[in-house]
This record gives sequence, C-alpha cells and structure tokens, in this order.
Amino acid sequence: RFVAVLAGGLSHEREVSLRSGRRLSAALRAHGMTVAEWDADSHLLERLRAERPDAVVIALHGGEGENGAVQSVLDIVGVPYVGTDPRACRRAWDKPTAKAELDRVGLSTPDWVVLPHTTFRELGARAVLDALVARMGLPLMLKPDQGGSALGAHVVRDAGELPAAMVGCLSYGDTVLVERLVEGVEVAVAVVEDENGPRALPAVEIVPESGVYDYEARYVAGPTTYHAPARLDEGTARAVGELAVAAHRLLGLRDVSRTDAIVTPNGQAHFLEVNVSPGLTETSLLPMAFEAAGTSLGEVYAGLVERAIT
Ligand code: DAL
Ligand code: MG
Repeated sequence: RFVAVLAGGLSHEREVSLRSGRRLSAALRAHGMTVAEWDADSHLLERLRAERPDAVVIALHGGEGENGAVQSVLDIVGVPYVGTDPRACRRAWDKPTAKAELDRVGLSTPDWVVLPHTTFRELGARAVLDALVARMGLPLMLKPDQGGSALGAHVVRDAGELPAAMVGCLSYGDTVLVERLVEGVEVAVAVVEDENGPRALPAVEIVPESGVYDYEARYVAGPTTYHAPARLDEGTARAVGELAVAAHRLLGLRDVSRTDAIVTPNGQAHFLEVNVSPGLTETSLLPMAFEAAGTSLGEVYAGLVERAIT
C-alpha cells in the first residue's frame, strides 16, 4: 500500500501536526506500508494527481486539516482518505455548532454563549463583559470558537482576568466561545469504527500538574499524568463511552474521532468538543487509548487505511 500522510500545514498547530505525522508514518511503515510524508502546501493537488496514493491519512491539526477544506480537495481528486467528510468536519470543527447538536438531543455540555468580536465594537467592551458575568457567573472557560491544542483558551475565575483573557482568545480568531467552567475530571474518549460500527475505547484521564491542560501540559513530557484507562467506576466509564459514540454518530463522523469531556464528582459526563484529527504525538491521548485497548497506533490506522481503500 502506498499511503500519503499529510502533516504540517499553516495552522497554529503546525508543529504538533509534524510530530503527529512523523509518529504515524513510522507506525504505518512498521505495518508494511509505503509511506510518503507530505506537507499540505500549495502543491498538494498536483502531487495527488501525479503520485496517486492508494489512500491519504490526514495528520493535520487545526484550520484546513479539520474544517473540511483538505478533505474537499481529496474528494475532488477522488483519492480515498481516512476520516470524516467535509460537511461533518465543518460541524465538528466549529465548537458551538457541535455543542448545539448535542444539546439539541439532550446530551450534556457546559452552558455557553458565543461572542463575535463585532459585539464588542457595537456595545462596548465594558458592557459586554459585565453582561457576560451577570448572565453566566464565574468561573468561565474562554476558547476560540474554532481551534485546538488549548491555544487561546483561558480559565477565568475573577472578573478582573476577563479582559486579558478575551483579548488572548481573540488573537486566535474573531469569535469567542464562553462556557461555564465545569469542574471535574477531564477525560478523552477515542472512537474507532470497524465493520461493526463505531466503538469507544477506554477513556484516558488527564491530570495536569498545574491544574490546567494547556499547550505545555499537552506537549511537554512530565507536566501531566495520564491514566489509561481512566479511574472511573464501571457505570461512569460506560456513560463517557456512550457520550463519545453518540457525538461521533450525531455529527456524522467517520473512522476515528476523540471526544473530550468533563466528569463531575456525581459521575455525570459533560461534552466539551470532538476532534476529527486527534493528536498522535508522543504525549497525545489517542495512542494511549489504543494501548489501553490492547492495540497500537499502527494497527488501528493500518486498519483504517484498508477501510478507506475498500
Ligand atoms: N488538537 C490536538 C492536536 C488534539 O486534539 O489532539
Ligand atoms: Mg480539539
């Protein structure tokens, strides 16, 4: 099999993607595949036409790799790829859209409001922030509405921190997702499809030393402890698995996804977001989930490549 692994790209997560791409490529080679590592640059279309890989695996994170743009190019050229189609990518990539879809069917996700940057110009920053705290209370979680790896995300416990957090968030995009902060155990649940449909793998529990799972806590070895499987009782573990499969199905995702959720002390799971191109780096969650399930990155993705081709 000749597989092209797409990594790099121009998003803020370029470095993460290059690490994902390297690890994935090595894992696929170890499974007997011929792998070319391609940067997703302006030559992509010509390269696809000229070299016609049997399949593409997208190890891009952020922007074009997750919002359906690259997937559209692959659809146009007619090269099979692992992962979700463009429309569903768009739904999952836009966090407020994904939350609304889950909320609509009664699945739990932290209360939220969406603030386009134009709101600040129209109403004045002071009025917007005051109204926000009056409506949502504290603490809050601020995130760019589209983004990854916690870039631009801020926990706000004190109203005085809000302006700086808002500015930090808006430096990554023009719309802020504000959520009521739900405190609990953060877990990530991989969903992988095979001929029997989507199946949740054991949840991975994330314990960042600093208390916040930020960029450094994600990609530097040491500052975060992971438990795979998560230390959840059987019923709660089943519930987070069901939440992840529900998100995968509801949003129309394909092959593989990773749902991030918070489990509150009463055992309730709250959906945060779902990723169509989860990180595959040395410190990333998906490979940990595969190991906890008794499989490996290479085995799972080699299987998904075969699925994409046939
Ligand atoms: N956005 C990063 C790569 C992740 O979700 O793992
Ligand atoms: Mg994400």
